[in-house]
Amino acid sequence: MKTPNTNSDPSLLILVAGIKGAIGTTLSLAVAAMRNRDASILNSLTTAAKFANLGDPFQVQIAGWDTHADSIAEAIQRHGVVPESYWCPHAPFLSHVEIGAAPPDNISLADQVEVIKQDMRLYMAHYPTAQPVLVNLLPAAWDVTQLHRMESLEELLKMKTPGIPDLAYALSALLLGIPIVNFTPNSIELPLICHEALQRGVPLAGRDGKTGQTFFKVVLASAFKSRALYVDGWYSLNILGNADGKNLMDPDRACGKLHNKTSLLDDILDYRVGEHYDESSHKVRIDYYPPRGDAKEAWDVIDFKGLFGLPMSLRLNLQGRDSILAAPMVLDLARWAAALKNANISGPIADLGFFFKKPVGPEPPLTFQDQLAALERLEKQITKRLPGVSEK
Ligand SMILES: NC(=O)c1ccc[n+]([C@@H]2O[C@H](COP(=O)([O-])OP(=O)(O)OC[C@H]3O[C@@H](n4cnc5c(N)ncnc54)[C@H](O)[C@@H]3O)[C@@H](O)[C@H]2O)c1
Repeated sequence: MKTPNTNSDPSLLILVAGIKGAIGTTLSLAVAAMRNRDASILNSLTTAAKFANLGDPFQVQIAGWDTHADSIAEAIQRHGVVPESYWCPHAPFLSHVEIGAAPPDNISLADQVEVIKQDMRLYMAHYPTAQPVLVNLLPAAWDVTQLHRMESLEELLKMKTPGIPDLAYALSALLLGIPIVNFTPNSIELPLICHEALQRGVPLAGRDGKTGQTFFKVVLASAFKSRALYVDGWYSLNILGNADGKNLMDPDRACGKLHNKTSLLDDILDYRVGEHYDESSHKVRIDYYPPRGDAKEAWDVIDFKGLFGLPMSLRLNLQGRDSILAAPMVLDLARWAAALKNANISGPIADLGFFFKKPVGPEPPLTFQDQLAALERLEKQITKRLPGVSEK
């Protein structure tokens, strides 16, 4: 049994659904490293100098749930995101991270929510001065648009098979007033959940983290648009060999992610890429390629036209690391979510579009410039509403 935290300083408590996944374990390691005031973690954040009232940015606690039985250290080894010499010194801290079992999926959604809420209360009791934020890092799942017709929480909670496990975590957080970050492509932001989040003062940040190829796509597409260069086609290929990549080989699970990766280009450019052909010439392919593990590689071929319609092209090759790109964004988002909650800003937060492939909320900013401007606006809004924090 964990002893209650006696430190009275404010801190952040990140509650992670899917904590033993590639991102969850990398995040846990980053949290462990922050305890040693490892500056390289803060240097990877975009919010380190923001939201002073959240307390010392190094003070972060973490807990969560997973279906895997192995320890966090074993899971880190299994994912192979970081070499052993990076995580070994933090093994004692990692062995104390509290991890609950996922609720069984053969009980009603209401019963699943009760199990998770109980865990959440326990975690919060252990860190009474820490501000909780739920981060959803479950595997990509199938579409649940059939749930959009749900009209009340009672109706939703009565369901025997809710469709995707993510909903149980999101609803538990919602009912306890805990902000929610949905980093997955899973569409948990049902109209009912968005409505309730707004009513209950719960900020909802999502969905589908924009970590690598799609981040650069937004930057480049915004640049093409700003120079009035016409994009005639865009071919994007990804290879990755982690569990996420394997999971995405199931077409039913991949369709949300592929849709999120594809639709934003036309939205940014404001025309249909491939409008002169019979079909869209924006193609996105994801291939599971085991030798790469988490070290994802992506290629983009962009065909564009300039003066007199003369064709040109650009090639981009990203040799990234999926979870190394994702983990600091999750930390940033947890800080945004806590700051929003403190400032009483709730519901789906479209202005966090910078972080997501499919930002939820009304009229999200589309271009890179607009997304940066929206973040600045949101920060000002938060600062204005927080007592004792003056605007810069
Ligand atoms: N890495 C990126 O750059 C990136 C970008 C955007 C979105 N995402 C999304 O983030 C999510 C997490 O990615 P990842 O690479 O860590 O995936 P992962 O498959 O490595 O981790 C998912 C974890 O969830 C656990 N899990 C499954 N069902 C569960 C349940 N019911 N309750 C609790 N835990 C459960 C699994 O055991 C696993 O440990 C995925 O949905 C992925 O598509 C990742």
